[in-house]
Amino acid sequence: MTVGIERLAVYVPGYALPLGELARARGVPPEKMTQGLGVESMAIAPPCEDVVTMAASAGARLLRAARVDPETIGMLLVATETGVDNAKPVAIFVHELLGVGRRCRVYELKHACYAGTAALMTAADWVRAGGGKRRRALVIAADIARYALGSPGEPTQGAGAVAMLVGPEPKALVVDAETATYADNVYDFWRPIGRREALVDGKYSVECYLEALGGTFTAYRAGEQPLLGPGEALSDRLARLLYHTPFPKMAMKAHRRLVEIDWRAAPARWAEVGPVLEEVTAASYRTAVAPGLEAVARVGNTYTASLYLCLASLLEAEGAALAGRRLGLFSYGSGCCAEFFTGTVPADATAVADAGVEEMLRRRTVIDVAEYERLARASEAGGEPPPGFTGEFVLHGIRNDRREYGRARAALAA
Ligand code: CAA
Repeated sequence: MTVGIERLAVYVPGYALPLGELARARGVPPEKMTQGLGVESMAIAPPCEDVVTMAASAGARLLRAARVDPETIGMLLVATETGVDNAKPVAIFVHELLGVGRRCRVYELKHACYAGTAALMTAADWVRAGGGKRRRALVIAADIARYALGSPGEPTQGAGAVAMLVGPEPKALVVDAETATYADNVYDFWRPIGRREALVDGKYSVECYLEALGGTFTAYRAGEQPLLGPGEALSDRLARLLYHTPFPKMAMKAHRRLVEIDWRAAPARWAEVGPVLEEVTAASYRTAVAPGLEAVARVGNTYTASLYLCLASLLEAEGAALAGRRLGLFSYGSGCCAEFFTGTVPADATAVADAGVEEMLRRRTVIDVAEYERLARASEAGGEPPPGFTGEFVLHGIRNDRREYGRARAALAA
C-alpha cells in the first residue's frame, strides 16, 4: 500500500537575529558562525508564542492549503521536546485550536529531535494498518531550541514547526516501509525537568550523531546490497540526502561520514574512490545536500522539525525537478535514537511544493541582539503579539498553572 506525506506546511516565527551580529556581541569572529557552523540567522519566538501556538499555526496553514475538513483527521500527533506540561500533551491544545473532531487519537511524542520521525512512522504504520480504509493523520513537529545566553550552543538556537498530512495519497513524498533504526543510552543533550534551556555536551553530541548515522546507514545499506552492483554506491541512487540539521555544518560532517561508509562497502571501486574521497564527498555535497539546507541556515535548529523543514524547503525549490526521484533521510534524536529511511517524490509533487517556507522567511522582522535577549528572557510569558507578528494563535498567559490560548487579532481579521 502506498503511504506517505500528502502535503506539508511550515510555520516560522516572525523575528530573525542575524548571527553576524550575535558573533560581534559575543566577541567571536563572524566567520565562525557563517563558515564554522554554516548559520546565517536564527528565528526567535516572541513571548506570546510557544510550541502550541507554533504547531497550531503550521497545522492551520496545512489544513487550509489541503482543503481538509479537520473532522476527517483520525490521528493527531505532535512531536516536541519543548513540551508545556508534564502530563497534558501539546497535541490536545492543538486539537482544540484546529477544531479537530472528537473521534481522533491525540497524543504527544518525545525523544529529543527524533520524535518528528517517530510520529511520521507511527502515522504511516497506522494508515497502512487501516488496509482499505481511507485513514488520514496530522503529524506536527514543533520546537523552540534554547541554550543558555553566551554558551557555545547559543548560535544553534531556532524555532519553528512543520505540519504533515500523512495518508494513502502522498503527493509530497511516498515513504518506503523499510527503514533502519539505531538506539543507545548516551548523555549528549538533555533538559532536566524544570529547566528551560537544554544542557549539552556539544562535541560529544556530534560524535553520537555520527555514530548513530553509521549504525543506521550501514544497516540500511545492507538491506539494499542485493540491488547494488559490486562497484556501486547507494548514495549515487539517491537524488538528495537530507539530514537532521542542528546547524548546516553538521549536515556536511554527516554527509562525509555517509559517503565514506558507502564507498568502503563497495570494494570493487574503493581502491579508486578512496584516495579522492574528499573530492567525491564535496561534489556530492554540493548537488545532493546543499540544496536542502537553504532554510535551516536562516531559521536555525528546530529540533523535531529540522529534517522536515529541509524537506519542505527542498520540495518548494525543486519539487518539479525531483519528480520520480528517490531521497534519503536521516533523523537523529539525542539520548539517542536515529532512523535512516528513503522516500520517492511523486510525479505530481509540483502541485504541493508550496509549504510556505520562502513566504514565511520573507515576512520576518530583523531584530538586534538587545531585542533578542529581551525576548529570550521573557520567553513564553504570554501577552500581546508585538508588531510584525505572523502567527495565527497566541499564548495570552498562564493563570493558575493553566495556559490560555486564542486566535491572533490579525488572523481573526483575515
Ligand atoms: N572561521 C571559520 N571557522 C571557525 C572559526 C573561524 N574564525 N572559528 C572556529 N571555526 C570552526 C571550528 O574549526 C569548528 O569547525 P569543525 O567542527 O569543522 O572543526 C566550528 O567552527 C565550531 O567551532 P568549535 O569547534 O570551537 O565549537 P564550539 O565550541 O563553538 O561548539 C558546537 C560547536 C559543539 C556545535 C556547539 O554549537 C553546540 O554545543 N551546539 C549544540 C549541540 C548540537 O547542535 N549538537 C549537534 C549534534 S546533536 C543533535 O544534532 C541533536 C540536536 O539537535 C541538539
